[in-house]
Amino acid sequence: MKRSLRDLPRPAIAPSLLASDFARLAEEIARVERAGADLLHVDVMDGHFVPNLTIGPAVVESIRAVTDLLVDVHLMITEPARYLQAFAEAGADNITFHAEVVAEPQALADRIHELGCSAGITINPDGPQDRLRRAVPHVEMVLLMTIYAGFGGQEFMPEVLPTIRKVRGWLGPNQRLEVDGGISPQTIGEAAKAGADVFVAGTAIFGAPDRDYARAIADLRSAADAGARLAGPRGEV
Ligand code: DX5
Ligand code: ZN
Repeated sequence: MKRSLRDLPRPAIAPSLLASDFARLAEEIARVERAGADLLHVDVMDGHFVPNLTIGPAVVESIRAVTDLLVDVHLMITEPARYLQAFAEAGADNITFHAEVVAEPQALADRIHELGCSAGITINPDGPQDRLRRAVPHVEMVLLMTIYAGFGGQEFMPEVLPTIRKVRGWLGPNQRLEVDGGISPQTIGEAAKAGADVFVAGTAIFGAPDRDYARAIADLRSAADAGARLAGPRGEV
């Protein structure tokens, strides 16, 4: 049975495994799970849509085998349609694709639903907002990149904040708004205030001093809570 985004708390904290130690992935997952992670974010890169190469369905299957958390797969690949089934069968719960490379996002979202997963759509900071908006009725989540996709450890781009506010206004109460890139205790509050409610963090968690992931996640959560309180219930400022 697939896990649902609807069961996630607000805010939800999603460690990005890209920043974890791949040589001890199971231990890293167990540690963030114990530390209070709400879901796991898995970055899939193909060397075409982005210059970097990361992981594929085989690793998602290994991740699925060692966790009960929702597995959130972020496809940074040129041809997402070719790999949806492989990722769904490997155990992904949510699959997010980039609007930049999908002319008919509704068809892709429908296919993701047929495979039993929830669907997310995302854009880079300069991505096609019109296409994203047209896809909103067909997805459970929008992911706004707060960096240019491709690498961990980049700096949060505050110029995306107005887009977060705008997109929050397009979403219904059960749809989620995720942000990804440069999320830290210093930046998460602004993103939460603008209306984001699912927060991906790689470096801020796996790079924490003494591998104190519980502290890192608690710090992120309290800063997100503080930002969300300033925003009111629907993210209006
Ligand atoms: C980058 C990925 C991110 C990345 C975030 O393209 O989508 O999920 O792991 O890393 P940090 O949190 O270090 O910016
Ligand atoms: Zn990501």
